[in-house]
This record gives sequence, C-alpha cells and structure tokens, in this order.
Amino acid sequence: MENISKYVSNMKENGLYREFKYLNSGQGPKALVEGREIILLGSNNYLGLCDDVRLKEVAIRAVKEYGVGSGGSRLTTGSYDLHKKLEEKIANFKGTEDALVFNTGYMANVGILSALCDKKWVIFCDKYNHASIIDGCLLSGAKLVRYRHCDMDDLERKINMYKGKVNLIVTDGVFSMDGDVAPLDHIVKLAKKYDMFTMVDDAHGVGVLGEKGSGTCSYFGVNKDIDMQIGTLSKAIASIGGYVAGKKEMIDYMKNVSRSFIFSTALPPASIAVSLKAIEIIEKDKDRRQKLIELSNWFKGELKAMGFHITDTITPIIPAIIGDAKKATLFSESLLEEGIYVPAIRPPTVQKGTARLRISLMATHRSKDLEYVLKVMQFHGKRLKIIEG
Ligand SMILES: Cc1ncc(COP(=O)(O)O)c(C=O)c1O
Repeated sequence: MENISKYVSNMKENGLYREFKYLNSGQGPKALVEGREIILLGSNNYLGLCDDVRLKEVAIRAVKEYGVGSGGSRLTTGSYDLHKKLEEKIANFKGTEDALVFNTGYMANVGILSALCDKKWVIFCDKYNHASIIDGCLLSGAKLVRYRHCDMDDLERKINMYKGKVNLIVTDGVFSMDGDVAPLDHIVKLAKKYDMFTMVDDAHGVGVLGEKGSGTCSYFGVNKDIDMQIGTLSKAIASIGGYVAGKKEMIDYMKNVSRSFIFSTALPPASIAVSLKAIEIIEKDKDRRQKLIELSNWFKGELKAMGFHITDTITPIIPAIIGDAKKATLFSESLLEEGIYVPAIRPPTVQKGTARLRISLMATHRSKDLEYVLKVMQFHGKRLKIIEG
C-alpha cells in the first residue's frame, strides 16, 4: 500500500494524476459539467449524433419491444435479430463479406489479435497505435515489432530484419491523439510485397473520411485489401460496441475462438438499434460530414495563425502540443474556468514531452462558440507563455 500512495503522490506532483469530470447532461457541443454549462471540445461525438432525436427514438422503441438487458452472451441466449441486421449493415458499409460485433472496440482489438496470432507470428505495429492494439499483441504471445509513427521506410527496414513465418501489419486508420492518417496505400503495397496480413483500427475514421463516411480504408480505396477492419460504435456512431469486418471465413473463426467475444454478455438491443440507425444516417448525410471538415479546417487555421503548435490533420482531431504535462493541465484548467472543457492528454497516453490539449470538434458546434474559444485560448496561451505575445 505504501508503494501505491507514493505512486499516486508522484503522479500528482508531475501533473499526471487524472480525475473524472462528471456530466449532468447529454454529450452535445454544450454540456453541463458538474452543474455548469460549458463548451465541450474533447468529445469523440464527431457528428453530434449522441443526442440526435432519431437515435433516441429508435432506442426507446427497442426498449419497448425487447426490454433493457440482453440476458446472455452471443453464443447462448444474447443474439437478437438486431445483431444480425447490424452485422450485415457493417459488412455492407465496410465493403466486406461479413462482420462481427463485440462489446467495445477495446474488446475487439484484444479478442481478435489474441485469437489470430500466437508465438509463430510477428506483428508490426505503428508506435502510436491505440493501447488496445498493444494489449492484444501482448496477450497473443506474438513477437511485437514497433515501427516509427507512419514511417514506411522504417517499417520496410524492420520487416526485412524481423519477418517471421506469419506476419501482420497493424495500424490505426486515424490516430486517436494526433488525428493524422496512416498511409494505408503504402501499407497495402508492403503487405503484398512481403505476403503479410493487414489489420486497420478505424475507430476515428468512420463518419469522417471515405465514401459515405465509411472510413480510412475507403478513403484510400483499399477496402478489399485489408484483412481485418476493426472499429468502434462509440464515437461518430454515437452508441457503444466494437466490430471486425472482413472475409466470412475469418468472421466465423472469430465467433468461435475470440475469448472477449465468447465470454461476455451481448450488448443490449437498444444500443444495437442505435448503431444500425446511426450508420444509416451517416451513409446518407454528406452535409454533416462536410460541415465538420469545414469547421475543423477553419479552426485549425485560426489556432496556427495565433502561434499554437498544431499538428496538420484532415480530421476533426486537433492536437495543440504543449510539451510539459503540468503546463498542459494548467491550460486545460484555465479554459475550464472560462467555460470550455478540453482535456489535457498526458503521458502515458502520449509520449513524454508531448502533452497536449486534444481538441476535437463536432459537426454541431456553432461558429459563435468557437470564436469565443479562440479568444480565450489566445489569452491564456499568451499568459502561460505557450504562444508569443
Ligand atoms: C484507435 C482506438 N481503438 C480502439 C478504441 C477503443 O474503443 P472503445 O472505446 O469502443 O472500447 C479507441 C478509443 O477508445 C481508439 O481510439
């Protein structure tokens, strides 16, 4: 216990201690945080669908028809006709033969990697990949080789050095803390050249990039070349759950082998109904996606002009790099006092020395509110000597 207290006080001293902020309202561009109305700028609710009336209605209908709990795991009593419809919908959306729904994106990554790979495999993994990918790799027992972020020369060099009997390249489609996009066209070429499997986690690409918002694989036109397309139903899709889409044979294998799929109670019908409807909305509503990209481009441009260190992205994830974890926390706290909630992201989520504010926009943010955010960020950015002035 003594070690634990020391660990916690150390985290507090170094600006690395994390605490919850409690919302008393829905997840919109404005929300009530601990009783105060604030502008919410860090949500993954990119398309603003979390409080969409059409989704609330399908959830209520599903509760009335099916009740609230699912009552069992998918292979026992927890599979509903809605699960089947959703899996067909995802396969169609992703341009694959089949799909399988997990309870979260985290569980999908861990369950798929540990079911597919073992110590005969070598997994080549982008250094900035999400923690759930890393955990899945470690659980699988495969040899894990991490290549420099989006660096295709480093990847090819490492393939030549470490290639084994069976090999997999795994990457985020859009990187969650940086908002940049993996060069999937290049990754597919390398996978073909060296006869490797490929897996893309597109948690942050869906709803934002690609034809009908179906994600990064579609953006690069490589849907058919990627063996496993992983995703979450909890970000732009505004519900809860994860999935894998790919060849029917692989999906059948996962249904029977993936432990995080088999040994967990199925998602309740209302969440499945919401995911189904949200994908339908995303496919049809091009304007919403367009609005999100336009707002993001404008906002990034303004921050850059003020002197903030903003990573170039084509997504609504806008990392304002601060560097020092304590300063990032202080900046985030100053914004909160002014009614703006944007979380400071610190190690171990990001590398040491790259603490940041991870700003993410929603299609439903209003320009007037964002103009206010810009003014406040400029004021406190200067005060804390993050920008000049
Ligand atoms: C890239 C990536 N993969 C997987 C996940 C996990 O998804 P979920 O929140 O559905 O568990 C996340 C986010 O949380 C993510 O950013």
